[in-house]
Amino acid sequence: MHPLSGISSIPFMVLAHGGARSTYMSKVHQKHPVVRTGPNMLSYGDLRAIKDIYGHNTACTKDGSYVITSGSHYHLADVIDKHDHARKRKLLSSAYAIKNLEGWEHKVADKTHKLNKHLDECCTVPLAPGEVPKPEDVNVDYRKWTNFFTLDAIADIGLSDKLGFLDRGHDKVTGRRLDGSTYECDFRDCLYQNARKQSLLIWPYQWYSLINKVSNIIPFYNRMDNFARDWEGIPVELAHKRLQRYRGGEKLDDFFQALMEDKTGHPNNLEWEIDDALEGEEDEEDGVIAYDKVKHLPYLRACLDESLRLFPPTPHGLPRETPADGVDILGDYIPGGVSVAMSAFVAHRNESMFPQADQFIPERFLGEAGKALQPYFLAFSAGARGCIGRNISYLEQTVVLASVLRRYEFALSSPIWQIERLETMNWLLGEMPVKVWRRDIGSKTAPSGYR
Ligand code: HEM
Repeated sequence: MHPLSGISSIPFMVLAHGGARSTYMSKVHQKHPVVRTGPNMLSYGDLRAIKDIYGHNTACTKDGSYVITSGSHYHLADVIDKHDHARKRKLLSSAYAIKNLEGWEHKVADKTHKLNKHLDECCTVPLAPGEVPKPEDVNVDYRKWTNFFTLDAIADIGLSDKLGFLDRGHDKVTGRRLDGSTYECDFRDCLYQNARKQSLLIWPYQWYSLINKVSNIIPFYNRMDNFARDWEGIPVELAHKRLQRYRGGEKLDDFFQALMEDKTGHPNNLEWEIDDALEGEEDEEDGVIAYDKVKHLPYLRACLDESLRLFPPTPHGLPRETPADGVDILGDYIPGGVSVAMSAFVAHRNESMFPQADQFIPERFLGEAGKALQPYFLAFSAGARGCIGRNISYLEQTVVLASVLRRYEFALSSPIWQIERLETMNWLLGEMPVKVWRRDIGSKTAPSGYR
């Protein structure tokens, strides 16, 4: 990648500070299938390597980066040992089964209702075709409010906790220190700045702990570190509250309950598409569409997958460590203890598999041709360490998108507006100011221009 990458991770850290690491890697990979990103790190761009690195039968495991960012206990996503992972995954699989999830749809519907309520309040007069919105009409930070939706939904599904971000319009939460004292902080700031600091400094794994501390003399990193410290107490407080309820004998219907006890109670130590599907149906007053009515819409799903392809929420190459005896990748022998990875962003911009890779073309995910793309679709990673939350994420995405698109029209402030994207392990997105107004559902108006 850089002449110094063979002896130091610094070039990769410098690249990380630019905030568009995978975009750069995607360009480099157009010419080079394998790139050295650090003394002990290789990045792959040739899609045939997916099977070798992430496939069900891969000998690679998650690498040391998961250890250094883990908490006091490993969770399902950062545990490395294969047996320990299999045990945790089995315990959680029944809770994540789609049958169970549909029972929690009402929690997603409740949050969609709250999001709609806010959008209703922000609605302005319909925009005439070709007209530019008045600046005062661009009055919703869609990004912030959909963040509130996701956070409120998962807290309810996971812990029956009502964070209330959508009700209050802000994300102040309580954190808990290990000494039992509590404090107030902003959920999203803590989450993002913690992730950002890690993604900038983690790359020389063996030095990370030191670099993480020493970096705090620089105000830029110190600020992130304060947020990171506040972040740690948020799950502590949420888990604490939920455990109190469990101990108090409350039987709640959520992930937490499914984790604590098995089923027997034993403790476990697009627009027209959507409209057609709803033809003849009376819309609910609150505008929330039932998952059952929209879950089989192939074009809606193709739009979701195409969005996840263009900007996979986790764009950076998820590192896997080669086994002690080494392993063959792309037919080349790679010795043991090497971190190997393929970025979902790089895989998704591969022109041979995804022609016109920079364009939003949902049709590519339809039918048999669409199915054939799935092995190269890495938004949820792949294999045994692929995302277990995939189904619940599709339920959330489908209900909220169908409900919002059925009820509203949106316009950006200008046709050339672009969202700010800063890459960390995920993307840190800037605000997304939009104008919103209620659709005249009877007339099925087609979106025009940059709406
Ligand atoms: C669009 C939404 C989502 C995307 C794109 C996504 C993506 C991913 C990716 C790329 C991984 C692999 C991480 C790694 O290798 O380090 C992963 C793992 C995981 N995800 Fe998701 N995820 C999403 C939603 C969710 C939700 C809603 C949940 C929980 C409710 C969830 C729970 C998990 C867990 C527990 C793992 C670790 C699985 C294992 O190691 O066995 N995800 N996800």
